[in-house]
Amino acid sequence: MLHHGDNLTQLRAQIADASVDLIYLDPPFNSGQAYYATGLRDAGPRFDDRWAWDATAFAAACEAVSPAMADVLRALMRLVGEGGDLAYCAFLAPRLVECARVLRPTGSIYLHCDVRMSHYLRLMLDALFGRANFRNEIAWAYRTGGVGKRTFARKHDPILFYSASAAYTFHPQYERIRYRKPFFSAKRDEEGWYADVLLRDVWEIPAVINVSAERSGYPTQKPLALLERIVTASSNAGDVVLDPFCGSGTTLVAAQRCGRCWIGIDANVDALTVAEKRLADASAAPQHL
Ligand SMILES: C[S@@+](CC[C@H](N)C(=O)[O-])C[C@H]1O[C@@H](n2cnc3c(N)ncnc32)[C@H](O)[C@@H]1O
Repeated sequence: MLHHGDNLTQLRAQIADASVDLIYLDPPFNSGQAYYATGLRDAGPRFDDRWAWDATAFAAACEAVSPAMADVLRALMRLVGEGGDLAYCAFLAPRLVECARVLRPTGSIYLHCDVRMSHYLRLMLDALFGRANFRNEIAWAYRTGGVGKRTFARKHDPILFYSASAAYTFHPQYERIRYRKPFFSAKRDEEGWYADVLLRDVWEIPAVINVSAERSGYPTQKPLALLERIVTASSNAGDVVLDPFCGSGTTLVAAQRCGRCWIGIDANVDALTVAEKRLADASAAPQHL
């Protein structure tokens, strides 16, 4: 199911309590930029990631959230002061509360964010799910983007993984390590010695670039391989996967290819057009699992 509109309104109106098994969200990052679809710059921003202080919106967010989340927002106000950073946190807080409401007790949430905001968002997720339900901070590592000469090149995004309870769905994943020589329980195939070891929390997956086959033209599109890994690890066949900032629909395509049901929400109707096309193409293609 695809829903068009502000996800706060849509989550409240359309999604029942404890009805979703897995949530992945890739909201704006507070990057201070507007993002345009490839070739569509004249049509205006595809989505805007610039945040300005709004005292009324901040007060409304504090009213709308749980006491623990309101405490986090007020603590952040003391820490970061009034401004775009706090406006961004106040935007996400009630949306994260809705995500917690719709998640089943066996469910998990993955919040994809930016290194400049992840520590604030982690406090919010602690307030919602409890520190005991923090599972991982995954580093999605890539090689694209700018470099700086005064810092190490920033080449990863944090993805904060929390579960709704201790009884969460999780299927361990493996990665293949290659060896030059036989080593402990190494096996051998036509490429040489290898072992399949449990996957770490650092994931090297190439970003979607101009020449990627999967590129839709939608800005900030995430790789299908990243989403397929999350869907496979944290849901079962037939489960419901929700992406409330679905953009070009990468999560939905991954869910469909893995035999899961999906719900996508986006405020930008052009994003949903791209997502619909990708989903139709994925249906026409042979199923992945
Ligand atoms: C970073 S992009 C998501 C990209 C997506 N993961 C993909 O692979 O294409 C963020 C998306 O959030 C949407 N968005 C921003 N604010 C929203 C809101 N309040 N409600 C629903 N969607 C929103 C934007 O239109 C944009 O498509």
